[in-house]
Amino acid sequence: MATVLGDAAYFIFLLCVSDLVFGQIRYSVPEELEIGAIVGNIAEDLRISVRELSARKFQLRADDGKQYFEVNVQDGILYINERIDREKLCIETFTCSISLELAVENPFEVFPFEVEILDVNDNSPSFPTNRLKLQVAESVVPGTRFPLESAHDPDVGTNTISFYQINSNEHFGLKIKTSNDGRKIAELLLMKPLDREQESSFELLLTAVDGGIPYRSGTAQIIIIITDINDNAPVFDHEIYRTSLLENTPKGSLVMKVYAADLDEGSNAEFKYSFSNYATKRVRDFFNLDAESGDIRVQGLLDFEKSEVYELDVQAVDSAPNVGHAKVLVTIIDVNDNAPEIKLTSITEMVPEDAAPGSVIAVFSVTDRDSGENGQVQCQIPINVPFKLQTTLTNNYQLLTTDILDRETTALYNISMSAWDAGLPALSTNTYFAFIVSDINDNFPRFAQSSYNVYLMENNTPGSSIFSVTAQDPDLEQNGDVSYSILENQIQEDPVPSYFTINSKSGSIYALRSFDYEQRKNFQIKVQAQDAGSPALTSTAMVSIIILDQNDNAPVIISPLIWNSSARVEIVPHLINTGYLVTKVMANDADSGQNARLTYELIEATNPGLFTVGLYSGEIRITRSITEQDITLQRLVIMVKDSGQPSLSNTLTLLFSIPVNLTENLSERIDNPSHTEYFSELNKYFIIIFGSTSVIFLLIIILLVVLKCKQDRNNMHYHSNKICCCYMRRNSNDVFTQRSAANESSNYHGPAQTLPFSESHHYRVRLSPETSKSDFLFLKPCHPTLPLSDITVVDTSVMK
Ligand SMILES: *[C@@H]1O[C@H](CO)[C@@H](O)[C@H](O)[C@H]1NC(C)=O
Ligand SMILES: *[C@@H]1O[C@H](CO)[C@@H](O)[C@H](O)[C@H]1NC(C)=O
Repeated sequence: MATVLGDAAYFIFLLCVSDLVFGQIRYSVPEELEIGAIVGNIAEDLRISVRELSARKFQLRADDGKQYFEVNVQDGILYINERIDREKLCIETFTCSISLELAVENPFEVFPFEVEILDVNDNSPSFPTNRLKLQVAESVVPGTRFPLESAHDPDVGTNTISFYQINSNEHFGLKIKTSNDGRKIAELLLMKPLDREQESSFELLLTAVDGGIPYRSGTAQIIIIITDINDNAPVFDHEIYRTSLLENTPKGSLVMKVYAADLDEGSNAEFKYSFSNYATKRVRDFFNLDAESGDIRVQGLLDFEKSEVYELDVQAVDSAPNVGHAKVLVTIIDVNDNAPEIKLTSITEMVPEDAAPGSVIAVFSVTDRDSGENGQVQCQIPINVPFKLQTTLTNNYQLLTTDILDRETTALYNISMSAWDAGLPALSTNTYFAFIVSDINDNFPRFAQSSYNVYLMENNTPGSSIFSVTAQDPDLEQNGDVSYSILENQIQEDPVPSYFTINSKSGSIYALRSFDYEQRKNFQIKVQAQDAGSPALTSTAMVSIIILDQNDNAPVIISPLIWNSSARVEIVPHLINTGYLVTKVMANDADSGQNARLTYELIEATNPGLFTVGLYSGEIRITRSITEQDITLQRLVIMVKDSGQPSLSNTLTLLFSIPVNLTENLSERIDNPSHTEYFSELNKYFIIIFGSTSVIFLLIIILLVVLKCKQDRNNMHYHSNKICCCYMRRNSNDVFTQRSAANESSNYHGPAQTLPFSESHHYRVRLSPETSKSDFLFLKPCHPTLPLSDITVVDTSVMK
């Protein structure tokens, strides 16, 4: 720097000498000359000799008293005594000069002169700070100018700042203006839009260059900080997020996290997540998006069956507001969380029990809202029921009968059905098909027995209940409402209804009459049970009423013949031995059994001990020989008693007359046992004759009947209304019966043909049919004009 200044000093020095044309001496020197540098020869210029100078004691005085200059007394040259800085000396003035006086004495004289200090480019432009900070909003439009602080150069004229420059860059340029005072002012000009997000700051070097030769320059760093404008929306890291979720994911579970970033900075980069307007209400119901963290959580119960995919439109909004969008696709994965659903389409609540197999009872559908295996459904009903399931369409089923139902066995079905899916674990649903089996009149009223035997004591009270029948009909209501009636008996002509009646509701049978065992020993009635169904079903049962004997008949003495309540018997005492059978008392009892078992008792005798009476036989025998002392008229009172409870009895008075003369005949008869044989034989013949007569008679009747029938059949077409038939039947009671009202009433027991000497054989011919024990022919009149009552049947039987 010193050499540069030195060279300049000489140049300026030469330039200044030419200024001495004015009256006042004026020197020009550049500033910053070295001490000792010659300004001018002041002595010569003032035309004062060097000697005079020193002799007259010259003094150099400056305005401000500063001794920048000194005069050499030897040669009178003015030289620089102190370094002169023009910029210090003359601040802010373009011309700078120092006024000096040279005073001499003897005579005192003053010579003013000026030394002009010429500028030398000795100062570089300088900026107040070498780092300029500038904040520029990124939104600033191109063309905008930013004034820059000017640099300062204390030099003047051309030595001061002549221009500015900055290093080249895309965005900024420099615009130089000249102010009114001629200063150069630099402005930063934005040439291209800024984007903080691309370049958030610039560092430029501003250079101020002066016009000196050589020029000097000063630099300052311009730091341009681009301030953020919220010009960026938050941006999600994915446009579409995809995730999947089990449908049973519990509430509060994290689905995923969305992430957005905002290129802006500071508060401009702050944003909040939310669902956008596109998000449906359903999405908002099911999911929750945390505004700060971007966490998406489940907040509802997801259901694959309602929606398989959820589309979540999310946004991030900053304060501007700038909005960034993204989409979250949540695929729901099916979980077997739905049990099969059974939907009953129709059910027959009443199934008639005669419904044909294959009748549809219920139609239903089974669905499962799950998909895949989770939605594959199977159905089952118990195997022990007469029903089956049948698939019609997919998921549609029918419940069919496989058999005829029976209400009486099962009146109500409550079939449980389970349906389950193929998921793991499987879910199932149960339902019940309940229906009633409606009644059909398919059951007959059923009597407990097909026939009943009722034992009834004779002499019963008319109108009293004798028996009760019950028939069970398991059908319902009317179909099982049994009523009873007595059917007209086809076998017997008796108007049975006039004997018996039945309570149609209770089945109690009442006897309307009092019966007499001795007249009739049994009745058969056919009882019918009928339900009230439509059509009605009936069944019958036979009720045999067996009349039991009561001891209501006293023994009747039939032998010997009684006259005036006593019988007379003659005996021949001298010929008879001890034990001689005098006579035999015979009695009959209309009752039967014990009631007819008779005993004979001697209750009174003229000569007690002479006679004995057989307890059961009624034989009266003599116990000893009759002597003459014995009274000729003997009186015996015999009591005949039956064994009934209480017993009934009858008495007989026997009068024995013992004549004086005995007959031979009698003893012969007694001694000859062949008589008994003879009588037995006789008896047999008699019976055979009687029997064969009866048989012949019977055959004649049959012949007559057959002939009559034939005749009727021939006449059938003339009497189509007349029902006439002819049949033979075997009676279950094996009673050879000839029924007729007249016959019935004549219960005649033929007199026993009793032979006094026979102990073992009693032959009886009876017309009573009840006690007979042989097959019988039942004959009904073929023609009303043939009265059966006229027919008499004789039955022969041997009784022991
Ligand atoms: C069928 O049975 C189930 C289970 O025992 C019962 O809950 C239901 O009430 C029954 N339905 C009818 C109509 O009785
Ligand atoms: C009947 O017997 C009684 C006494 O027992 C007797 O008085 C009466 O004369 C008898 N009558 C006849 C007709 O024998």
